[in-house]
Amino acid sequence: MKLLIKGGHVIDPQNKRDGVFELLIENGKIEKVAQNIRASSVKTIQAKGKIVMPGLVDMHVHLREPGREDKETVATATAAALKGGVVAVLAMPNTTPAVDSAENAELLQAIIKKSACCRVFIAGTITHRREGAQLSEIAKLKKKGSLAITDDGASVDSDELFFAALKAARENNLLVICHCEDKGLSDGVVNLGITSTRMGLRGISCQSEYKRVQRDIALAKKAGARIHIAHVSCQESVEIIAQAKKKGVTVTCETAPHYFTLSEEQALGFDTNMKVNPPLRSPKDVEAIKQGLKAGIIDAIASDHAPHTENEKDIEFERAAFGMIGLETALSLGITELVQKDILSFSQLIEKLSQNPARILGIEGGNLSAGARADIVIVDPEKEWLVERRGIVSKSKNSPFIGRRLKGVVEYTICSGKIMFNR
Ligand code: DOR
Ligand code: ZN
Repeated sequence: MKLLIKGGHVIDPQNKRDGVFELLIENGKIEKVAQNIRASSVKTIQAKGKIVMPGLVDMHVHLREPGREDKETVATATAAALKGGVVAVLAMPNTTPAVDSAENAELLQAIIKKSACCRVFIAGTITHRREGAQLSEIAKLKKKGSLAITDDGASVDSDELFFAALKAARENNLLVICHCEDKGLSDGVVNLGITSTRMGLRGISCQSEYKRVQRDIALAKKAGARIHIAHVSCQESVEIIAQAKKKGVTVTCETAPHYFTLSEEQALGFDTNMKVNPPLRSPKDVEAIKQGLKAGIIDAIASDHAPHTENEKDIEFERAAFGMIGLETALSLGITELVQKDILSFSQLIEKLSQNPARILGIEGGNLSAGARADIVIVDPEKEWLVERRGIVSKSKNSPFIGRRLKGVVEYTICSGKIMFNR
């Protein structure tokens, strides 16, 4: 079936397109992008006043399946993704079992094949059971479709083992995604400093993050491996990454919407939905993250969608699980906090949410070129919506943004030419 998207404001940074164009879609591909397209027997979407952009690629998502289907499944997470304008995700491997072997990768691939409603790519672990003691079956993980390796939720403490992993990643052309945390410096639950003192809780230092960023970059340089720093949250990390990029190290990085939207002050009310790892940082760090995005030091925005049940959240702050959901709010937070506040242009926001993550992962997507896969999102950038618990599609409801009004509503999410979500 043919589909024609008419009258919309097309923003496609990769092709430097930013204006009113029409898009013709046929056989799952973008057939033509032009000012006026004449086509017969087509379904037409009127997109006047809307933005037509490449679908989001979210490179940091916890699907929880297999093992914690009470929190989320591939089916529920990908349905939430579509509502958020996300057409492709990278699944983190901290499942049960962890994706550390060919067999476990196959198990996950079978679930994806059966129940995913958008593209799901997999990452394998760096170490067996993410225990940091023995390397995973890295070559086999690659053969089973892993794009990256990561022990997300943990960092490999041993320099020797991490270096060996980097070399194996290089040999297998895998990206290494680094959760930068030195647990020796991070035994806490909120940001270390005034907040941890006021709350009477143990703190997580910025040092625990940036010291590990420093080490990972140094080892990656030595090994000649491609690394990507996950969920950058503090000023020093941004500065260290900026320096490394200047020196030509092949390092990229992401931040999550909560690190440019919320600061540690939001945790003072003991709302466990504000508990996340790395923790919400100081207002100075929030500003550094925004400036890092603006300056192009931070390449990508990924949700770090981390669903948890009420049992794990509706308890004392100290005991609550780390993490927040984010697939359904990432785009609107980007529009509300970055575009509306003149930190990024809409086009730059699309680079962070779609074009750059597709490039970093080496997957199709992130552009609206003629001949490309028709993964397209149509957004009403001016429309406001209230984040409500009952509107959340994800199986878990642990969003710190419930009760907030955000700008930007996804009207359509189109995957491979098929309308998969229509508000
Ligand atoms: O807050 C977090 N939650 N940070 C992580 O690194 C892991 C994630 C999870 O899996 O829940
Ligand atoms: Zn992580």
